[in-house]
Formats: sequence, C-alpha cells, structure tokens
Amino acid sequence: MPDTLTLTDNRTGKKYEIPIVNGVIKAMDLRQIKVSDEDFGLMSYDPAFMNTASCHSKITFIDGDKGILRYRGYPIEQLAEKSNYLEVAYLIIHGELPTKSQFEEWRYNITHHTMLHENTKKFMDGFHHDAHPMGMLVSTVGALSTFYPEARNIHDAEARKLQMYRLIGKMPTIAAYAYRHRMGLPYVYPDNELSYTGNFLNMLFKMAEPKYEPSPTLERALDILFILHADHEQNCSANAMRSIGSSQADPFVSTAGAAAALYGPLHGGANEQVLRMLDEIGTKDKVPEFIKRVKAGEGRLMGFGHRIYKNYDPRAKIIKETADQVFEVTGRNPQLDIALELERIALQDEYFIKRKLYPNVDFYSGIIYQAMGFPTDAFTVLFAIPRTSGWIAQWQELLLDPEQKIARPRQVYLGAPKRDFAPMERRR
Ligand code: CMC
Repeated sequence: MPDTLTLTDNRTGKKYEIPIVNGVIKAMDLRQIKVSDEDFGLMSYDPAFMNTASCHSKITFIDGDKGILRYRGYPIEQLAEKSNYLEVAYLIIHGELPTKSQFEEWRYNITHHTMLHENTKKFMDGFHHDAHPMGMLVSTVGALSTFYPEARNIHDAEARKLQMYRLIGKMPTIAAYAYRHRMGLPYVYPDNELSYTGNFLNMLFKMAEPKYEPSPTLERALDILFILHADHEQNCSANAMRSIGSSQADPFVSTAGAAAALYGPLHGGANEQVLRMLDEIGTKDKVPEFIKRVKAGEGRLMGFGHRIYKNYDPRAKIIKETADQVFEVTGRNPQLDIALELERIALQDEYFIKRKLYPNVDFYSGIIYQAMGFPTDAFTVLFAIPRTSGWIAQWQELLLDPEQKIARPRQVYLGAPKRDFAPMERRR
C-alpha cells in the first residue's frame, strides 16, 4: 500500500494524493487544494500546536501514553541513575555520550566560563530588593548579549561553542547572584574545584567559612533534578527558543526569551505554584475540599496534567524517590503529606482519571527544593539552569536544519472587511 493520503475536496469534487512521510503530511501539500485559481489554498488551523510538528528532531523522545522519556535514545531512568548533569548536557547537545577526554575538556571549558563580568554585578544591584529571581535571570541572561557581541556569529561553529560554554557556565552564577541579591548577602565567586551542582550550592549558601563543602547527598540530588529537567522536546520554552533563534538573534537573547516562556505558571512556573497551593490547603484533611473546588473549575491542581503525558510523568517518579534521600539530610518536609494525599485522592477520582491527569515533574520538585533551603520564588530558576542545555541543543539543531526558516505562522483573519476612515465627529 502506498504511503499516501487521498483527499476529496467536496467543494470541487477534485481528488488529491498527498505523501505521508514519518507518519506526517506536509501542511504545504494542502496549499494546492483550491476552489479557483485566485483561492489562496487550504491551510490547517491549529491553535496551541495541538497536532502540528514544527521540526524534525533527534534530541528527545517522549511517548506520552506509555510515560517514556529518552534523551538521544537513552532512557531517563538510566541517565538519572548513572550519569551526571554535565555529561547529559554534552549528550543532548552533541548527540553522543562523551569519551573521558571529551568530557574532561567539556567540564573544563564550562567550569572556566562560570565567572560573570564585574559589571553584571552592578547591573544586578539595580534590581529592587524583592525582585523575583526569574525576572532577574531573564533580564541578566539577555544582558549577556551586550557583553559578547560576537555571539551574533551564529553560523560560526566555534563562536557557537563558546556561547554554549558561557551559557551553561554562567546560568548558575546568575541564579545564585539573584538569590544573594534577594537575601541581601554578598555575591560568592565560583569555586572551580567543585562540581557543577556543588559550586552552585557554594555560590548560594557559602557564608564565612573559608571553603564551602556541599553535602554529597544534596549535591547528587540536585544533579539528578538537573538531569531530569535538561530537555523535553518541543515544549513552550523550547518553541520560544527556536522561534526567536529562527530570526537569527543571538543565543543570549534567545535564551532570555525561552526563560521568559518557562516563567509562566502553566510551564516551569508551576513548581512555585505547587508550593503556594500546598500552603493554601494547609493541612491534609482540607485536601478533599480543595479537590472539590478544582473539579468545580475554581483553579487547577498545579503540578498535575501535561500536554503530552497521559500517564505518570517518568520524571515525577524519579523525583519522588530522590525526595527520601534528601529528607534524610534535611528532615522531612511536612508539605509532602499534603502532596501525597492530593495524589492519592486525585488518582482515584473520576475527573482526573477521565482526563488522564497525573503528577508532572513540578509536583514533587518544589518540596525537595524547599527542604534544601530554597525560597519558593527561586524554584523556576532551578528549572531554567538545567534546561539551558536543552534550549541550546534545540537552537543549534534549528540552525543546522536546511528545512528551517524564520518561524512565521499563518492566521485566519476574521476581522472587519475594508472600510473607510471616519472623522472623530462622525463616530458613534
Ligand atoms: N487541574 C485540573 N484540571 C486540569 C488540569 C489540572 N492541573 N490540567 C488539565 N485539566 C483539565 C482541563 O480543565 C481540561 O478539562 P475539560 O476537558 O473539562 O475542559 C482537560 O483537563 C484538558 O486540559 P487542557 O488545559 O486542555 O490541557 P493542555 O494540554 O492544554 O494543558 C497543562 C496542559 C500542563 C497546561 C495543564 O495540564 C495544566 O494547566 N496543568 C497545571 C500546571 C502545571 O502543572 N504545569 C506544568 C506542566 S509540566 C512541566 C512543564 O512543562 O514545565
């Protein structure tokens, strides 16, 4: 049987045969379907990209019905157990796991690009004392574009590589400075002897001690969380990164745009909202009442549901396991009991079963972050840091794809037809 789709246009009676490749038809193949020569041709209408593939990609695979997530073919469970964030970032961007020497070079280059220009500190000092850390992160990563004008050479592979080191290296430093600014504490410079996450903890929490020594358990837990957040194919922020990048903007401003998309409460901002929701619920016995309100349409159960996953988010499963290890060091976060009760009740409720709503990555992550000492409004920053490698991989794949052009959707215009301008005195 041929891999084609036969369409009959009942307006004209004409038949069309459209090729199917990799399970998709090309939207541009619909354009030939016209009622007359003047007709523009048929388009597809798909608000929110519910059923439109915007690219070919080799980075991340998700089977939402089965709850499967793989980076470059490797199951997320194996990566979370056996790898580390920097190795995963290399894998996502380069397509293969690094050899020992490739990894050492990668780690060295990222570690040696963690410092921020001193003027960045002054820039950040300008933020109000209670500025939201995501607002500071978005603005500051965009401002890096002014420090590195050569980043505009996006078609030069060497220049691209340098910006990747800078972005992955500097995101934790910006995030830590945003936190310290918020707390009124002096900024802490990076420590090159520590791991990526160990150094991040150092820049956040070092006080008067001469050398900060991160807890190995917390360092590893954060590394696992970073692995889980590294990429997630064509989500809202990856789509923003690709869309901005398609105009050939530099990677710093593109990353600022992607981070802005992540900030929203329906995307990465959900981890912050989960904790606010748990605070609002207050105690375990109030959970049934809260679920009732959600079902009545009075707000959503934050950290639940996903556009792609119609099964348990595999990342949420790993986070739940990691929580126990963290609580051994930090003590149990009492919010966990409310979250477990929410999950228990929701998973047996017809409303959630029918809509296939399960906990997503943001449901349990905030509970761990809170136990580790992060303020609630810093949670989304902890999503943005590791997602930077995913954004970069998506951006580079776009630039190297000869089929890609500037992203520019069509619209269906339903506004007023042509009419003549009326002077103000004649308007009603
Ligand atoms: N609580 C209650 N009802 C929900 C929820 C929820 N969290 N999520 C979806 N629904 C209902 C929704 O009301 C709709 O019901 P109906 O068919 O009766 O109108 C149905 O389920 C389908 O929802 P949708 O909004 O059409 O689905 P979507 O694919 O457009 O949205 C989502 C996906 C993640 C935005 C949504 O599930 C949501 O708002 N969840 C809460 C926010 C959240 O946790 N976001 C993090 C997502 S995972 C990490 C990330 O991407 O950053």
